[in-house]
Parts: sequence; C-alpha cells; structure tokens
Amino acid sequence: MSSVAPVEIRIYPGDCDARGHLNQSAFLGMFERARWESLARGPGVDVFARHNAWPVVRKATVEYYAEALPGQVLRFDTTLTHLGRTSFSLHQTARRESDQTLVAEGDLVFVCVDDRSHPTPVPDEIRRYFGTRPSVRAGAFQHLLVRGIATAVDVQGDGPAILFIHGFPLDRTMWRHLVAPLTGWRRIAPDLRGMGLSDAPEGGYSMEEYAEDLAALLDILKVEQAIVCGLSMGGYVALEMVRRHPDRVRALILANSRADAETAEGKAGRDETIALVEREGPEALVDVLLPKLLAPTSISAMPQVVEHLRTMIAGSPRAGVIGALEAMKERPDSTPLLEKIAVPTLVVAGREDRLIPAKHSKAMAARIPGAQYTAIAGAGHLVPLEQPVATTRVIGEFLQVLD
Ligand code: MLT
Repeated sequence: MSSVAPVEIRIYPGDCDARGHLNQSAFLGMFERARWESLARGPGVDVFARHNAWPVVRKATVEYYAEALPGQVLRFDTTLTHLGRTSFSLHQTARRESDQTLVAEGDLVFVCVDDRSHPTPVPDEIRRYFGTRPSVRAGAFQHLLVRGIATAVDVQGDGPAILFIHGFPLDRTMWRHLVAPLTGWRRIAPDLRGMGLSDAPEGGYSMEEYAEDLAALLDILKVEQAIVCGLSMGGYVALEMVRRHPDRVRALILANSRADAETAEGKAGRDETIALVEREGPEALVDVLLPKLLAPTSISAMPQVVEHLRTMIAGSPRAGVIGALEAMKERPDSTPLLEKIAVPTLVVAGREDRLIPAKHSKAMAARIPGAQYTAIAGAGHLVPLEQPVATTRVIGEFLQVLD
C-alpha cells in the first residue's frame, strides 16, 4: 500500500486566524506537521538529512471543504501518488475526527535536492516507508466533492460530454488512451467512490450509489446529458444510470460488460474474493486477476499495460475494493431493461475476453433495439488498454454519427 498510518492533530486557538478559523496558511502548516509527525513514527525526521536529499516543495494545492475550529481533532492521511527518481508527490486529506467530515485536501510535489541544490535521488527509505509502489499514476485530475465524497476526476476538452466509467478494481487512468485522442468532446473520467484517488468510505457501495454519484457529478459539471461509456463494472453502473436517470444518457457504450445479475456460484466467488482482500489486501488480487483481465498475448507483449494494471489494482483502497465486490455481487438484473433502451448504443467486446466472453456481449447487443456490436481482435477484458487504437477508432466512428 502507498499510504502511511494516519496522524491526529488537535487544533489550538493559536493555530487559527482572528475569526477563530484554521486559515489557508495555517492549513499548509498543518499538512506539513502531519508529514513530519508521520516521518517521526517511521524512518525518523532526519531521514532526508541522513541522505543529503532535502525535499523542497515545487507545487502545493490545497482545497478547503469545511471549517476547522479550535479544540477539534483532525485526522491526516497521507498517500504517495507519484514516485520518480528525484521527485515524489503526496496527496493529503484532513478529516474531522468526530464525524469524519473531509475538511481539506492537498496535493504536493517535492523534489529532493542535495546541499548544492542539485536534484538528487529520493532516499530508498522513503520508498520503503510508503510501500513498493505509488497508488497513482499519470494524468491530470482534480478533486470534486460529490455527495460528500472527494472524487478524483479528469475533465478534458470542450464539446458534447462523454462520461467514462472504469472497471474493477481499476481507475480513471484505464481510459487514458481514449481520453487523449477524442478531441472535440468533453471527456469526463472519474474514479468511482472507493477507487483510484477518490475517497473510500467504509460502507455505502452499490450500483445505485455509484449511479447517483455520477448523476451528481454531471450536475456539478453542469452537464445535462452525456454519452455514457462503461467498461465491465462500469457497464453495470452505466445500465443503472439508464434505469435511474434515462434523461441524462444521450447514448450508451458498453465495453466488456454484461446485463445479468450475479449467479449463486458467482456470489460465492465474490465472497471468497472479499475474504481474500480482507486477509491480504488488494495486492493479493494482482496475480489472481491479471491472467483473467488480459489476453495471453497482451501479458507477454505489453509489459507497460501489465505494470499499469498492477499499480491500479495494488493501489486500490481496501474498503473500496470490498465495497465494489459487494456491489457487483448484489447488482440487479438489467436484462429486462435492455429492450427499453431508446438511445444509440454500441456494444464492444474483446474476442479473447475470459471474464465476460464476447458471446455474452453479442447476446446483450441483440436485445438492445438498434445496437451496434463490435468484437475487437487481440484483446481480452480490457479493450481500451490492449487495443487502444482499434478501440478509439470503433468508438470514434460511433461518436461521429451522433455528432
Ligand atoms: C470488471 O472488470 O469490472 C470486473 O471484472 C467485472 C466483474 O467482476 O463482474
């Protein structure tokens, strides 16, 4: 995991401004105190001095969501979001201990410099302290407060909106090969609650909750209607959006997905997976899922995709992974909905998908009035990552007709 143990700090009157609030500069100081406190409990506050590698802040952004007053105790969580040779980035959140309200969060980029101010490698002890790999991954993003959940979202471009909903246990970065080239569209790729860099509450996961989060996100972004594109679990959520908010869905793209509910056998499998994650954490899913997610040729020929998947899976928050497994286990049967879908729909399958075989996707497409169906060669369960060019072409052609 890439997070370190949380740190609690009480706010004293001297920390606050004349109106009795913890103000902006005080907050930066609080985040800094939490970092040093955390180092004190780990490799020691002198870890950077020992390695002649002082971390200087290159960029700091803080967003404030709620007030913080003297006497309150804040809980600070710190996550490593990027680790380069000489630089690293941290994401920090501050919550009121009493009710877990998210008060503020910050993103900071550090560069380590030596005593001549030259960039120098990040000490290995820091890498070890945070764990083996950062939880995140390239890509611009912002955090928006959606139904009380700090939600990481990439929003790029102008034009009609496309909402990309990722699969399990992945995050918005799985869409990066599509998000980049689809210029002329407003591409919106969030991390679902509990995934990627979004907040991961201990409970509150279901297809309904995910769909309500996304409708609320569209409200915040002032998007009335979007083309909704979901992969696998993202497709289950997309169908839930069609059920609950049909007026928000301008068109539908279902990739590597299915409409039926979980079978009894499938539910038992979900329980086993939940037990595994409870015992060993999301990292344990890497080896279980990789051979199912990717076609064998992708595993051998695409090491960068394998690495990206490992990062996403191992960095997923435990509560969010367990919540998603519960949500998929209890997902409703959307088969009766299919024949009522009244918007243009594209169904995309991977010819070598072992998790949701292409024949399921084809049968699903056959039940949706007027739906197009395409099976992409040389891809398993993750067509946008395994065949990004072909997937972008297929989706681009579908979009062109809509425009
Ligand atoms: C996904 O890719 O989202 C999941 O594999 C879907 C599932 O397990 O049903």
